[in-house]
Amino acid sequence: MKEILHVKCVDFTFDGQGLAKAGSRVVFVPSLLIDEEADVEILYHKKDFDVGKIVKITKFSPYRIKPKCPCATSCGGCSFQNLIYSKELEYKKSRALQTINKIGGFNFKDAPVFGMDEPYYYRNKIQVPFGYDKQKRLVYGFYKFKSHDIVPITECAIESIEHVEILKTIKELMLSMKIEAYNEDTFKGDIRHVLIRVGKVTKEVMVVLVVKDVRFKSRNNFVKALVKACNNITTVVINENPRKTNVILGEKEEVAYGPGFIYDYLLGVKFKISSKSFYQVNHDQCEKLYSLALEEANLKPSDTILDAYCGIGTIGLIASKKVNKVYGVEIVKEAIIDAKNNARINKITNCYYECKDASDYVVENKFDCVFVDPPRKGLDTNFINSLLKSKPERIVYISCDVGTLSRDLSILKKEYNVNSVKFVDMFPRTYHIETVCSLTLKK
Ligand SMILES: C[S@@+](CC[C@H](N)C(=O)[O-])C[C@H]1O[C@@H](n2cnc3c(N)ncnc32)[C@H](O)[C@@H]1O
Repeated sequence: MKEILHVKCVDFTFDGQGLAKAGSRVVFVPSLLIDEEADVEILYHKKDFDVGKIVKITKFSPYRIKPKCPCATSCGGCSFQNLIYSKELEYKKSRALQTINKIGGFNFKDAPVFGMDEPYYYRNKIQVPFGYDKQKRLVYGFYKFKSHDIVPITECAIESIEHVEILKTIKELMLSMKIEAYNEDTFKGDIRHVLIRVGKVTKEVMVVLVVKDVRFKSRNNFVKALVKACNNITTVVINENPRKTNVILGEKEEVAYGPGFIYDYLLGVKFKISSKSFYQVNHDQCEKLYSLALEEANLKPSDTILDAYCGIGTIGLIASKKVNKVYGVEIVKEAIIDAKNNARINKITNCYYECKDASDYVVENKFDCVFVDPPRKGLDTNFINSLLKSKPERIVYISCDVGTLSRDLSILKKEYNVNSVKFVDMFPRTYHIETVCSLTLKK
């Protein structure tokens, strides 16, 4: 029998669900906003809380709005499309500050947060699986939470408009040309994932078809028909992934149309972006993020700096005009090739790149300033230890995960003052937020 509870929402969870209470019971309820009351159906029990879904809201928040996107509650990508944006920023900032203070052991009272004027259609990259629903209909979309069931998307209010149109065309062409999506159970079919990237400034569009076999049936006709139907596509890359794995991209790639990469500009610097390289998904906010990071770094013409976890070299190349020398380290070899190329095409001659695990990167040089921009798991202990040993005067820590950032700051603070914490909303309408912290060596 269904259990229905009447709850009041008192907070948000770290991942943007409503944290509601009914007496002593705690219930996580997606899409319920702070101060709202609702009847919720309990779906399952966890050790310390229950998980429920809204049956009926009995008291509405004055900040509730109608989501822009028809898939807002089903696809699982956005947590805050039903909330006015200024409140989303306020909540994300306060949650992030709480984490930094609690895990990092700080006492920051407030911090600036830089949001977008128009917090929609900002993502320059989409990556979706293709497959079949229970009725065996071809679908593409996002995986349902903790499953490989695809929640179909028809529209998306945070992706660039181009992406949705291209995905629709790919589906239509697959149906008309009888090209099958890969079936994870039978290992039959061809197209596994589609990745699309668009250069915000250049408008160049890259489509990556991730397939079981690089020579899949009707490949050439399919690519021809695709670029004819979507004339904004500037390159198509075929990525082969024959393995039974959750990793999306395979090793082998062939360029089926165009140059195999796109260009884009950030703060006036031109960047070559290939299918496997990391490139920030929100162009305009990324420019704000990098401007802020550079400002926090207080760079001097005599400085030698390290751009650690440098990707295609964005931060260091943008900083290069302000300093003497830039070193960059990054684990993905394609990204380092792009970084070296990016220095060349921008005629920048003071940047040096190395493809290496940052944790093995012995900080031999005396750096005046180190930018760190690690993935969600944060900095490796070896890397932190080498920073503590080599003692650069300034560190600017850019982070997309406030939990691991706080953990790392709690170690770095032995030798460093954490002077400022600032937030840039790189991912409006989702629960994520980017943080920039400036650290200086204690005297
Ligand atoms: C958040 S991205 C930042 C990239 C770049 N700074 C930018 O803004 O475009 C993190 C980067 O770290 C790289 N990376 C992940 N683990 C690494 C490791 N252990 N050592 C070096 N780089 C790593 C990833 O490939 C990715 O390019």
